[in-house]
Amino acid sequence: MAQPLVAQLESLQKEALAALAAVADEGALEEWRVNYLGRRGPLNTALRSIGDLPVEERPAVGARGNEVRRLLEERFDERAQKVREDAMQRALVEGAIDVTLPGRTPPVGRLHPTTRMLREICGALVSMGFQVVEGPEVETDYYNFEALNMPPEHPARDMWDTLWLEPEQGVLLRTHTSPVQVRVLERMQPPIRIIAPGRVYRYEATDATHEAIFYQVEGLVVDEGVTFAQLKGTLATLLRRLFGAERRVDFRGSYFPFVEPGIEVAIDCFRCNGAGCRTCGESGWLEVLGAGMVHPKVLANTGHDPKRYTGYAFGLGVERLAMLKYGIEDIRLFYSNDLRFLKQF
Ligand code: PHE
Repeated sequence: MAQPLVAQLESLQKEALAALAAVADEGALEEWRVNYLGRRGPLNTALRSIGDLPVEERPAVGARGNEVRRLLEERFDERAQKVREDAMQRALVEGAIDVTLPGRTPPVGRLHPTTRMLREICGALVSMGFQVVEGPEVETDYYNFEALNMPPEHPARDMWDTLWLEPEQGVLLRTHTSPVQVRVLERMQPPIRIIAPGRVYRYEATDATHEAIFYQVEGLVVDEGVTFAQLKGTLATLLRRLFGAERRVDFRGSYFPFVEPGIEVAIDCFRCNGAGCRTCGESGWLEVLGAGMVHPKVLANTGHDPKRYTGYAFGLGVERLAMLKYGIEDIRLFYSNDLRFLKQF
């Protein structure tokens, strides 16, 4: 009876040790412990059955059984320690931080090309003594047209395709920044020397050169003795700051109801130096803004004596200048939020 039990203990020990060698994590450890050393495990069962042996056989078999138990417990502890050390080692390697790696650069925003151009224009003009003012984008017929010498039904209104908010009340989205001229003239006394940057709106079918929303910068100077020569000097200085000191500036007769005389200003193309290229449409010249001497009616409309005061005004399109300066071929790129475009500035 004793021999089969001893053999059973031997084979149990062999099996248990083989199984233990394959144990590689906490879960398997616990499983093995319950399987082989647990109260309901085969070892315990075998040890309990020693009590059924004849008395004289019990001590030897019992000693052997205890040996097996001690050995398995010892090996289990060793294995458990090894498994835990391995796990810790793995965690260290996996969670390792290489402090010598360069940090990840967080994405940083940048200035929109319109903002850049606006700042460049306003910066140049502020350095020439202009004060920055702003006016509302929601305007009335009076400021956008009437006070600017365009009474109702005036055909020149067709120059500005208008988005009306309340047509009956004459409420609209300003089509240019020129209404700010009127607002400033209404509340300031000469000498006046302001610029008015801001957004304007046109009822426009968009294409490569037309947007329904864009930016302008208006300029207005009113004082005693302001001359056309001063207008020319100011604009030539501005345009040479923006497009290069060697630029030639051309003043051409044009028409805007709120100035007299009215002009359009062109620079010789800075890409081809006037020879003719794609940018200037082979003409050698780029028209960049509208301007003129403030119309006496605008001064009178706002309570200033046109016999005493004269002035000049100009208005330029910010995106148009940015397109020329940065070689942008489609104005719609400005407001379509394509990062591939925006990241180039
Ligand atoms: N307001 C005009 C436009 O939008 C530009 C302009 C401004 C012309 C001031 C003359 C004087 O077309």
